[in-house]
Amino acid sequence: MLTFVFVCFSVSVTGLHAAFTVVVGSPSIKVKENEGVDLKCSYTADFGETPRIEWKFKDLKGYQFFIYFDGRITAEYEGRITVDDGGLRFNKVTRADTGDYDCEVSGNSGYDEKTIKLTVLVPPSKPVSRIPSSVTTGSNVRLTCYDADGSPPSTYRWYKDNTPLPEDPSKFPSFKNLTYKMNVFNGSLEFPSISKLDTGSYFCEASNGEGAPQCGDTVNMEVHDEDNSQTPAVSSSLSTENKDVPSKTTLNHMLEKQYGVFLLQEVKLKLEIQKLELEITKLKLELQKLGQEP
Ligand SMILES: *[C@@H]1O[C@H](CO)[C@@H](O)[C@H](O)[C@H]1NC(C)=O
Ligand SMILES: *[C@@H]1O[C@H](CO)[C@@H](O)[C@H](O)[C@H]1NC(C)=O
Repeated sequence: MLTFVFVCFSVSVTGLHAAFTVVVGSPSIKVKENEGVDLKCSYTADFGETPRIEWKFKDLKGYQFFIYFDGRITAEYEGRITVDDGGLRFNKVTRADTGDYDCEVSGNSGYDEKTIKLTVLVPPSKPVSRIPSSVTTGSNVRLTCYDADGSPPSTYRWYKDNTPLPEDPSKFPSFKNLTYKMNVFNGSLEFPSISKLDTGSYFCEASNGEGAPQCGDTVNMEVHDEDNSQTPAVSSSLSTENKDVPSKTTLNHMLEKQYGVFLLQEVKLKLEIQKLELEITKLKLELQKLGQEP
């Protein structure tokens, strides 16, 4: 027991002298889609001649994947990357490569890891917006705008009658009679109690600093009193979509989405199992080592 305590103590003391240290070239890297990129990662000499190096990737949804493991590039990354003492090199990145890369090094009983955040830059695409064409005075109305492609994620701006709406209307004399709430990060424009003043033509714009900002379709939104017998209609930039019954396409999309989620969960669980098995092996080795000590 005493020996064990001593080992821990000596490791933490050497730690103070920056021993067993992994160093990355840059903790945050941005690269355009389809270009190559180097994720530089080096380590101090005390890890020994042939340390164990592992690379892991965590995507934006939090799913983790092995890239380099047991001295080998995993099947998913075969042909796409090279790994050497200096780090990892992508021949060509896609938008799905955005996320965190862990460079882990162990050897001579030392361990360290560093993370590199990679952002693959993708310009926004034309946002999909939902703007009702007819609403009742006093109702709560939410307009939405979403660009699925922009990386980093787009921020949103709304236009009414071709004039950009300020994020906070109360701060501007010419807008202070308007009562909407705008969220520039998720694209929502909400009217807690819509009034006739809000009648107008609306469109939204997505931008992320890459390429040109993209605009959604323009829709005239009319605010009318309740006694008006007009039926409320919803116009969306997916204009072929029927508003009441989900179309075949929508259903297919929904199913595909769910199926995709299940597949991802399966992959994730398999990786978790691999990870746990690895932990068990490591612990067994540790136990053997402790058993062998005098
Ligand atoms: C705002 O409302 C007030 C009173 O309801 C009115 O006098 C004023 O002209 C309005 N301002 C604008 C910019 O529409
Ligand atoms: C966007 O943010 C607002 C709060 O600012 C929230 O009420 C709304 O639910 C969010 N919309 C989406 C689609 O997440």
